[in-house]
Amino acid sequence: MTKEIRTVGVVGLGAMGAGIAQLCVEAGVETVGREVSTELAEKARDRIAHFVSRKVEKGTLDAETRDAALGRLSLTTEVADLAGCDLVIEAIVEELEPKQELHRELERVCAPDAVLATNTSALSVTEIASATTTPERVVGMHFFNPAPLMPLVEIVRAELSSDDACETAYAFAERIGKRPIQCHDTPGFVVNRVLIPLLNDCIRVLDEARVGVEDLDTGMKHGAGWPMGPCELVDLVGIDVHVHASEALYEKTREPRMAPPPRLVAMRNAGLLGRKSGRGFYSY
Ligand code: CAA
Repeated sequence: MTKEIRTVGVVGLGAMGAGIAQLCVEAGVETVGREVSTELAEKARDRIAHFVSRKVEKGTLDAETRDAALGRLSLTTEVADLAGCDLVIEAIVEELEPKQELHRELERVCAPDAVLATNTSALSVTEIASATTTPERVVGMHFFNPAPLMPLVEIVRAELSSDDACETAYAFAERIGKRPIQCHDTPGFVVNRVLIPLLNDCIRVLDEARVGVEDLDTGMKHGAGWPMGPCELVDLVGIDVHVHASEALYEKTREPRMAPPPRLVAMRNAGLLGRKSGRGFYSY
């Protein structure tokens, strides 16, 4: 049985969380966004307002609908303010302990039948859920970057997730206009299990084939039909995020292709993080 979602909470309003909150308010859902500071929360509101306003400028949305959408977003720095949420989507730092701690707190604060979803991309949903005493209501809802534009959401069933929690998450993803798929909690789930080693191969090919960054991107766009080249994509995702996800998957699978290529690790260490830092494979 799916649970009716009247209010959704989004915890962590970075690029992913802000994108998820944007999707929710645009789909007509009252949304409470939580950040650790008022400054970060306001930054996320500005980001969401910017992208929704671009639609008004481009004539695909009217100003009234935009204002109504933005009016559905309330911001807080207190986890306690998520008490009234029927579903909470967590999109905080990609580290196990903070995620477990947050889920313990959410379990204390939210109603017993609220569904708790994590947007983790490379950690185990089962391990996150194991920090709670009600792991049956914990599922993965894995969105792709940029969340407002990428149609897919992976609905990840952890070892103890209930059918109700999985069905509720699936139905909610459809309600906000996404194309959900169901899978089990294995390292990288479905898409990252394939995409992360593939992107790592692409970066290794840069050195092996002595091909330039732009030529590699052109090759994959025009020879494999990718919407953007691998170097552009890693810049979009964030070199640090990609390296971190690769390390997490390598740790779990021990497959050499999962390990981040040294070239990416060096870029991460030098602060070349892609679009968000202004420099990665390209300058922005
Ligand atoms: N958030 C919200 N809205 C955004 C946005 C964002 N981050 N980025 C762009 N938009 C909006 C903008 O308003 C933009 O219009 P303007 O530029 O006129 O303002 C509008 O969307 C359209 O943007 P684009 O013109 O850039 O759209 P596009 O048609 O070129 O497509 C794309 C862009 C969807 C990103 C496409 O290039 C694509 O599909 N790329 C592949 C992305 C991909 O593979 N993502 C998966 C990454 S892996 C991952 O996420 C897994 C993980 O766990 C790390």
